[in-house]
Amino acid sequence: MFRYFQTLLNAGQVINSWTSKPTVARFLTTANQMDKPKVLVTREDIPKSALSILEEKCELEVMPNKSPISRTDLLNKISGKHGIFCFLTDKIDKEVLDQAGSQLKVIGTMSVGYDHLDLNEIKKRNITVGYTPGVLTAPTAELTVALTLATTRRLFEAHDEIANGGWAKCSWGPLWMCGSGLVGAKVGIVGLGSIGLAVAKRLLPFEVAKIMYCGRHEKPEAAAQVLGEYVTFDQLLQESDVVIIMCPLNDTTRNMFGPTQFALMKPNAVLINTSRGGVVDQDALVNALKTGQIAAAGLDVMTPEPLPADHELTKLKNCVLIPHIGSATLQTRTTMATMTAQNIVNALEGKPMPAQLC
Ligand code: DGY
Repeated sequence: MFRYFQTLLNAGQVINSWTSKPTVARFLTTANQMDKPKVLVTREDIPKSALSILEEKCELEVMPNKSPISRTDLLNKISGKHGIFCFLTDKIDKEVLDQAGSQLKVIGTMSVGYDHLDLNEIKKRNITVGYTPGVLTAPTAELTVALTLATTRRLFEAHDEIANGGWAKCSWGPLWMCGSGLVGAKVGIVGLGSIGLAVAKRLLPFEVAKIMYCGRHEKPEAAAQVLGEYVTFDQLLQESDVVIIMCPLNDTTRNMFGPTQFALMKPNAVLINTSRGGVVDQDALVNALKTGQIAAAGLDVMTPEPLPADHELTKLKNCVLIPHIGSATLQTRTTMATMTAQNIVNALEGKPMPAQLC
């Protein structure tokens, strides 16, 4: 009997080692591991290696969907679970926690950001939270630099010019498709955390003139690595040619870029955001882009996500949009998933987590 199920499990792994085979795996788990803690995984399209870590120690319920779990399912399925493997798309708030019950011990989010978790409510219940810092620093920094180049050098717009006949019409022009390079640019980084620092390090070889940063505290050691100057938020806005948002979303940073801030920025300034959409008042940004208050924006994050295809931002030539792919390399997402699984298992076993948030 066991060999039969093992064969089924192996077949599943051969057919697709990336996507889980929750049905087979769940059966094995249920048959052999009745007393194991119950863990909800809110979607099925996670690396198999992460599921294997969980399956060994837990009784899993993997939602059979390749899209975010619906609110109704989340509220139903969390009930009675000891742990949850979730994503930035899953809002874990008071209602969900009440519905879960007092046996819920651990939340593992496959993200470094945690603005989707109500930490006050979570802490009140002594629930442990694991997240994935560090492992996505380099890929997110890489993507931020790519987006900065794509926006300052107008890559998407230039690509479109081929298909829409713009190139054929003008052939080539001395001022056609001119953007602003990075050589000699003053770069302002809002939040010199690990990703902000990694971005600054990657920008230095482009011969930028200066790196400025702002944030809650001065960070002399990090700043020294990039010759960064600590300035006020207003000074950063007034002086930067490129402003890069690298701070987390919280009550202090929500909408920190609004009409007043755009009014302080230079008309040639480019705004880059790979952090969270909520840091920017998006209506104010649309207005700043339309009126030429700033030159362009490159956004990996926006509000809401997914952004409706007909949103005003999608119609602006001076706005480069990509769909929240900062950490999207296969290696990174696999490491994030296994780290999340290990966070959950360790917490349930009373061991230290690879990365505990609270
Ligand atoms: C995170 O982890 O918070 C990123 O936004 C997505 O990987």
